[in-house]
Amino acid sequence: MSVLLKGVRVALGERSYPILIGSGLLSDPERLAPLLRARTAAVISNDVVGPLYLPVLRESVQALGIRLVEIELPDGEKHKDWTTLNRIFDALLAARCDRRTPLLALGGGVVGDLTGFAAASYLRGVPFVQIPTTLLAQVDSSVGGKTGINHPLGKNMIGAFYQPQGVIADLDTLRSLPRREFCSGLAEVIKYGLIQDPDFFAWLEENMPRLLDRDADALAHAVGRCCEIKAQIVSADEREGGLRAILNLGHTFGHAIEAGLGFGQWLHGEAVSAGMLAAARLSAAMGWLSREEVERTWTLLEAAGLPTASPDLGTARYLELMSLDKKVEDGQIRLILLRGIGQAVVSADYPRSALEGVLEGFRSAA
Ligand code: NAD
Ligand code: GLY
Repeated sequence: MSVLLKGVRVALGERSYPILIGSGLLSDPERLAPLLRARTAAVISNDVVGPLYLPVLRESVQALGIRLVEIELPDGEKHKDWTTLNRIFDALLAARCDRRTPLLALGGGVVGDLTGFAAASYLRGVPFVQIPTTLLAQVDSSVGGKTGINHPLGKNMIGAFYQPQGVIADLDTLRSLPRREFCSGLAEVIKYGLIQDPDFFAWLEENMPRLLDRDADALAHAVGRCCEIKAQIVSADEREGGLRAILNLGHTFGHAIEAGLGFGQWLHGEAVSAGMLAAARLSAAMGWLSREEVERTWTLLEAAGLPTASPDLGTARYLELMSLDKKVEDGQIRLILLRGIGQAVVSADYPRSALEGVLEGFRSAA
């Protein structure tokens, strides 16, 4: 039997959809049924997640009398590319999947982003359902319709905004997640407190040990609150005309760290963690954030087992890498800064010297 712990709706008119957060959801055909109105469905997974969770999902889908086409991809960010995308198209065509065939993304953000992009373009668009199995995917990448792949010249550079029909976040799947991956997801959880919700930030300060123990109630509260915040931001600004950019707190610094060290050295959330502290320090240099608030941010990231010291790539290299960010406009690096815990702003309105001061500081911190 499944337990639905929280339901969140992403309000986008005709393209609105539910996020179901609970336990035992994958083994309950009735939870899946409203999202699978077709004779055939295709599940896309990878060689780590598939062996763990495909058997239970297969049983539920087949209990509904639906034929399931199974597509297994190689694991890892390095496979988030054209070659792997084409493997999905090859398999869908070979199995004669048609315009009604929903694609089910069973896995973390890599599988979700690839599957979403495949769904956006296969036969000019087929339905898809996100079934995220990492903390990062449950609180961030499965919600909001950003899909895509990497290009050798940049991360997530090719893609589409394409919303799923629904998101099924089964918290049970988080039990098998390696600790380092779990902590990486916590960076995005902390992000929501920093950008929008001081009460949630304070709750995280109190409850981080429970989250690290993967306490079911604590996880349900955290995943639920993050999805509520993301749903509200996406509903207000689906295509990132303005507000949605605040979801990128710490990411401009973080992407520079990931690229500068070589993708895969630091996990995405680890780089975002150090990046959020850099953004907090720059906000403090602007007089927008108090020393105490920077200290609280540092303490919470440390408590979550995340890095807070950025690697010393050199100021010039950081500036070069940060200027490749998708938020750059007319050569200006726009950053997400904080005017208090829970209050993020998008700003290019900071002295260059203040940014350089923060980057110089990495030399002593690293
Ligand atoms: P990931 O998909 O690579 O998963 C991390 C690792 O955990 C992989 O090895 C995966 O196979 C494994 N795994 C997944 N679920 C598991 C489970 N339940 N038990 C054991 N192992 C499991 O990485 P991620 O952190 O989930 O996602 C990162 C990706 O998400 C990046 O490509 C990033 O660009 C993207 N992303 C997209 C958005 C968006 O809005 N679309 C937002 C944030 C990040
Ligand atoms: N992860 C950032 C966004 O969805 O906009």
